[in-house]
Amino acid sequence: MADLPFTSSTRSIPEVSAVPRHIAIIMDGNGRWARKRLMPRVAGHSRGVEAVRGVIRACMERGVSYLTLFAFSSENWRRPADEVSFLMQLFMKSLQKEVDRLHQNGIRFRVIGDLSRFEPRLVELIRNAEALTAGNERLTLTVAANYGGRWDIMQAVNRLVRKHPGQAEAFSEDDLAAELAMSYAPEPDLFIRTGGEQRISNFLLWQLAYAELHFTDTLWPDFDDAALDAAIASYRKRERRFGRTSEQLQQGGSAVDKAGGHA
Ligand code: IPE
Ligand code: IPE
Ligand code: MG
Repeated sequence: MADLPFTSSTRSIPEVSAVPRHIAIIMDGNGRWARKRLMPRVAGHSRGVEAVRGVIRACMERGVSYLTLFAFSSENWRRPADEVSFLMQLFMKSLQKEVDRLHQNGIRFRVIGDLSRFEPRLVELIRNAEALTAGNERLTLTVAANYGGRWDIMQAVNRLVRKHPGQAEAFSEDDLAAELAMSYAPEPDLFIRTGGEQRISNFLLWQLAYAELHFTDTLWPDFDDAALDAAIASYRKRERRFGRTSEQLQQGGSAVDKAGGHA
């Protein structure tokens, strides 16, 4: 059986801390932000990069260990070709510009998603940035690019089958989780989606099983420290039961914790 570095929310009960250890964000609303100002949609994407900088800094200041940002979904190829190519260029330019600063700040940079459709130059840039920052421990910043939750589960299944050809026994949750693109991180504690929509849009389908969900109308380019603090404040008010009752939690959970996960 696969040995996972982190507690699975379905197989045992994860520790809960006041500051979410892992925050995952769907950065939505760039196009609307620009249109409200009579600017082209892509101007919203450029401003979105500023908001990314801000949220990285704010997460470091608040002691968040993992930040995962949805930058481009496997369905975003359906957008007009010029918007797609603008987004790719922006990703490349931002990465070129920021990689040294990320490294200086002790940030480990990772990208999850199907990189096979990206230009080789962009893939090389990504791999170099990942290699440069691999030893950093202050914050793990993951960018989901050409990422889809269904793609992730399918690539994990296919890897498992390739690694164990002809295995007769059923695979376990842990076996599958170990092959997911973000197996190096704990499951998100807090999920934020800006831009007013209340949907997951094929983001981290498996890993969001027990995440606390926070939806805000704030458009991504306007997402600032106050908006992040509001999300964290809302998170702090939640009772994370992981299937148990409120009474069990109030009694203090150590005995329950042991019995909590199914074998
Ligand atoms: C999110 O903003 C950025 C990406 C999906 C790349 P949108 O571009 O979806 O902005 P809206 O939702 O159209 O306002
Ligand atoms: C989700 O936003 C993907 C990203 C933010 C990268 P979309 O704007 O593409 O989502 P839908 O199409 O409104 O669900
Ligand atoms: Mg959108």
